Amino acid sequence: MSEPEPEPGSEPARPFSIRRDGDDNAAGDGARAPDASGSDAETVPDRLPDDALVDVRSEQEAVHTQEVLDRLDRELVGLVPVKSRIREIGDLLLVDRLRERFGIESSRPTLHMSFTGSPGTGKTTVALRMAELLHRLGYLAKGHMVSVTRDDLVGQYIGHTAPKTKEVLKRAMGGVLFVDEAYYLYRQENERDYGQETIEILLQVMENQREDLVVILAGYKDRMDEFFQSNPGMSSRIAHHIHFPDYTRDELVQVAGLMLAQQHYELSSEAETAFEDYLERRMRQPRFANARSVRNALERARLRQAARIVAEARTDLGKADLMQIEAADILRSRVFDDDSATCTGEPPQETIDEGA
Ligand SMILES: Nc1ncnc2c1ncn2[C@@H]1O[C@H](COP(=O)(O)OP(=O)(O)OP(=O)(O)O)[C@@H](O)[C@H]1O
Ligand SMILES: [Mg+2]
Repeated sequence: MSEPEPEPGSEPARPFSIRRDGDDNAAGDGARAPDASGSDAETVPDRLPDDALVDVRSEQEAVHTQEVLDRLDRELVGLVPVKSRIREIGDLLLVDRLRERFGIESSRPTLHMSFTGSPGTGKTTVALRMAELLHRLGYLAKGHMVSVTRDDLVGQYIGHTAPKTKEVLKRAMGGVLFVDEAYYLYRQENERDYGQETIEILLQVMENQREDLVVILAGYKDRMDEFFQSNPGMSSRIAHHIHFPDYTRDELVQVAGLMLAQQHYELSSEAETAFEDYLERRMRQPRFANARSVRNALERARLRQAARIVAEARTDLGKADLMQIEAADILRSRVFDDDSATCTGEPPQETIDEGA
């Protein structure tokens, strides 16, 4: 189980001085609206008069959401439909805040989501950004993310599951609970599976405490579809079903470019061609995991570059040489040993090693 923290310095400016119930200091202290009915509207102290006018852009700037969205655009390749859904959610919440300033009543929108897609398509990464965005918009008090799988929620014996699930929920309050491979919570063949208990607790919290917690269920698309079919209650509580498509080869090349630039490496032009060839092959092999496979491939290229530099033992090594990945650093990958892989029916060793 991992609990990525929001990035340092991401504490949002308190956008408007709208008061949600009991909120008399900065965000992050569990401030929230008392219920979903918007009944605290009258107690908002600096409610705008009905004839007031607000400037949308400057309100948007005040919450710094544009920053998060721009960073999402810059740092994540492709994912156009995902990015536009996130923008829509950002717009919805901004307008919600503006309405609240005028004292227009409405319940807070439901924001539980499902993220479907193959491994390495950016689901976890985007969920983290989502947590940050929702925090900036004042929807989530803390904006951290607690990432779990079945084993973190479901117990082994009677009476074990509820406390386990509740403990996780407690840690996630004020942030995002990210349930990876959520379908493992439900075992069709076993009605008395303890996972059912977790599902029931989640359903309740998703309904009654949506002010405090956003649940994101993630996993493969077909298995999630089945899960929702078997659990209509869960499906009906999910407001946004967001699908993360597989990356194209060109997108993966761009992902590599971004990752290399962050680490101050670059591919020579021959290495770039070799890497495209590498991807063509790797994408057809088992356990291909999109951007994660790119990350792993680059890590290994980095190892080979280092081994090559040390073996060459040049006396005139320069800064540029230390930054450059050469074609040889890519071509020594076992992905190019097609023959051995096809003969044994096994994927090359490095694809097996390719963990998270
Ligand atoms: N669009 C992208 N642009 C740049 N890097 C990306 C992109 N998508 C994913 N990555 C990188 O790829 C790696 C894997 O992404 P992430 O863990 O978010 O995928 P995931 O969908 O959660 O995978 P899994 O289903 O296996 O958990 C991370 O290092 C992430 O930074
Ligand atoms: Mg993930």
